[in-house]
Amino acid sequence: MPDSASLKALFDPQSFRAEGHKLIDLLADSLQHSLAGEGNARTSQQPNQSAAHWRDHLQAALAGNAAPTAASELFSQWIGQSIKTHHPHTMGHQVGVTAPIAALADLLGSLLDTGNGVFEVGDPATAVERAVVMDLARRLNMGENAGGYLTSGGTLGNLTALLAARQAAAPFDAWKHGNDNTRPFGVLVSEQAHYCIDRAARVMGWGERGVIKVRTDAQSRMQTGAMQEALDSTRAEGIQVIAAVGNAGTTATGAFDPLDEIAEFCRVNGLWFHADAAHGGAVVFSPKYRHLLKGIEYADSIVIDFHKLMMSPSLTTAVLFKREATSFGAFAQEAKYLWRTKDPISVGGDALPWFDAAHRTMECTRPMAALRVFALLANHGDKAIANYVESVFAAAQEFAKIIQTTPGFELLTPPTANIICYRIAPPELTDAESDALNTAVRTQLISEGNFYIVETKIADRTWLRSAIMNPFTSGEHFRSLLETLLRIREEINI
Ligand SMILES: Cc1ncc(COP(=O)(O)O)c(C=O)c1O
Repeated sequence: MPDSASLKALFDPQSFRAEGHKLIDLLADSLQHSLAGEGNARTSQQPNQSAAHWRDHLQAALAGNAAPTAASELFSQWIGQSIKTHHPHTMGHQVGVTAPIAALADLLGSLLDTGNGVFEVGDPATAVERAVVMDLARRLNMGENAGGYLTSGGTLGNLTALLAARQAAAPFDAWKHGNDNTRPFGVLVSEQAHYCIDRAARVMGWGERGVIKVRTDAQSRMQTGAMQEALDSTRAEGIQVIAAVGNAGTTATGAFDPLDEIAEFCRVNGLWFHADAAHGGAVVFSPKYRHLLKGIEYADSIVIDFHKLMMSPSLTTAVLFKREATSFGAFAQEAKYLWRTKDPISVGGDALPWFDAAHRTMECTRPMAALRVFALLANHGDKAIANYVESVFAAAQEFAKIIQTTPGFELLTPPTANIICYRIAPPELTDAESDALNTAVRTQLISEGNFYIVETKIADRTWLRSAIMNPFTSGEHFRSLLETLLRIREEINI
């Protein structure tokens, strides 16, 4: 019996080959069952129950009290207990449905794991990243000086873009001197902005006052007519507003702000225009929906998640800049590195060291994330992303029609994208009772496990919410969901 703790055993290529084949078989089976809608979408363990199970497992394994679980058995258990994002009944958060090719590229990146913070160890991942990022910037019409990088998530991407905005817009070196607390910075955002924008402002030390919320209309789009008043009153309080953020796909409802109007407002008022397109940026691939991004080409910075509507595993986020040079301002502490014109490995005398990613990403060591996207695009083409986006958007519209024609349900608003809010709306209940009913029904629904949906608050009311991420979720699944919700409603009898 080989010693499993020996380093030789740990790195044994033959055992990797054997376990790898078994793992791919397990995943392929799971994918097949999930896509066919077999089994539940979700298991229903409670957090402490699950935590105790895995604690006991680990302690038993470490103490040698039990024979080690074969890797394939462990992998099988993890697959079994994970929510099935490929199941057509999973209609909850905006968690992407990973394409198998992107997952394979991710596995490759995990084993090679070159570090990828600088080009010396980053080739080819850094150059592959350049290809992916520049292709995206070109699709967005950002102009010839555009560029950017990949980072780990929209949250980090928005923070990094706003750090660059601060450095570009501040009348002093904010990276060096910190904030000027006599005239704190601020950013205009829609009241529907993702909480990470608020978090970014507070991380930068701008506090609560640093996030100035602008009203939204009935479709959850920023009311650009209200921006001037918000800017004037905030400036009158002594806050230096330096940027405005437009949403291309809000989290709660998938609404697209009028980016062209926000761009014009920013131009006139000298503000940095940042587009949070973490969710909706993928529509740039779709001839049918690209128009939703009108005006994004004027953005100074843009964040787009490949792990939402572009079938890549988490976290794969593009941060793009209209003037790439500004991206280096986010962490401009070591200027001597920044403007190298004579670098032994620079390509074509390029003055910007785009190839040493760590200069402008929050991460030092980075995953080889670009491989996921490149493999998908190179093997399936950009049309695959267009097909995906158009499928999930069409499915949401179909779901909306079904809700509107099913007695007992209310639709918040027809969806622009693939996110839809709805609720059980018994006329005899008060608002508070109706909110409690929807919460109770959803809680029971997800504990049964056959479906997964989420809930959100909009204008202080509770709504059920579904992001249709699986392109194979269709009418029969939506009808079955509504029937199940009504059945539970009868059973819990609020
Ligand atoms: C509009 C928007 N921006 C930013 C984020 C944060 O992205 P991430 O989860 O990749 O950090 C989200 C996440 O849902 C989002 O919907």
